[in-house]
Amino acid sequence: MILGIETSCDETAAAVVTASGEIRANVVSSQADLHARYGGVVPEVASRRHLELVSPVVREALAEAEATLDDVDTVAVTQGPGLVGALLVGLSAAKALAWARRLPLVPVDHLHGHVASLYIGSDSVEPPFLCLLASGGHTLLLDVTEHSGYRVLGTSMDDAAGEAFDKGARLLGLGYPGGAALDRLALDGDPEAYAFPVARMPGLDFSFSGLKTALVYAVRELDPAELERRRADLAASYQRAIVRALVERTRAAAEELGSERVAVVGGVAANSELRASLPDAALAPLPLCTDNAAMIASAARYVALVPFPDYLGLDAYATAA
Ligand code: KG4
Ligand code: ZN
Repeated sequence: MILGIETSCDETAAAVVTASGEIRANVVSSQADLHARYGGVVPEVASRRHLELVSPVVREALAEAEATLDDVDTVAVTQGPGLVGALLVGLSAAKALAWARRLPLVPVDHLHGHVASLYIGSDSVEPPFLCLLASGGHTLLLDVTEHSGYRVLGTSMDDAAGEAFDKGARLLGLGYPGGAALDRLALDGDPEAYAFPVARMPGLDFSFSGLKTALVYAVRELDPAELERRRADLAASYQRAIVRALVERTRAAAEELGSERVAVVGGVAANSELRASLPDAALAPLPLCTDNAAMIASAARYVALVPFPDYLGLDAYATAA
């Protein structure tokens, strides 16, 4: 069994996954409430909270899996990208657990983890496929031909799609992180009420910062009562613009590569309009879209393990290689 640990941002997560990809436990403790009053993740606050939560969350995952550390063969942990202080808490915990048990450790790339959310559970998807990875930190189009990695085809030149959702949600007074709340508010709005621009970048890249500025101006033109009345329309139109950009580029990439299958992963893959807009795509299961450790343990099955005790010197990295 693989014990996975993920602490790259504001979720403290641990999971137990078997070598064949069966999820025995998947525990996620979100710190969102803690950061909400600051309107975003405060790195130092996140690190301190991970430190408090990592042991209880690992214990809970083992209990849920009806396992003990004796049953664990490998410890997998997110090495990056993410907040370095936050990553270091998970990495140190993983090193300590593995070292104490003389187990091997597998350092996992967080983005590879998101892709590997497709490789577990009952409806697993196998390469090759074209993958849209849309999260709070990244927007990527990936050519996935093997379980162990991918080739980047396109990325965002500025904000990530999830970041665009969060910034829009904030402008509409929905708090942090606002992607899911904006998704819910949009259900009551008219997606064609506002014609928000979708930037067309050359190649297969994305850009979302202009869209956010357009929302700023639209909101600025309304007095508080009008804003209250139009909030759902603004949310629906804004969401439509993001989803359109994601879907257009994904379709273009699929055509360019001649991909027979398209998959969508990452926090934004939980978005109801995006899911509905790509009916033929393989969608990551909802509990595995946002950050979790099951996807990290899943990815670890395709990464070379580092034998005891060679991993003690491993460091975390903040940005994608
Ligand atoms: O993958 P994730 O948990 O963390 C990163 O690796 O960044 O993604 C979090 C992002 C946040 O920006 C959040 O607002 C967004 O995913 N998100 C959504 C929805 N649920 C989460 N965005 C749009 N619609 C949703 N339903
Ligand atoms: Zn993530």
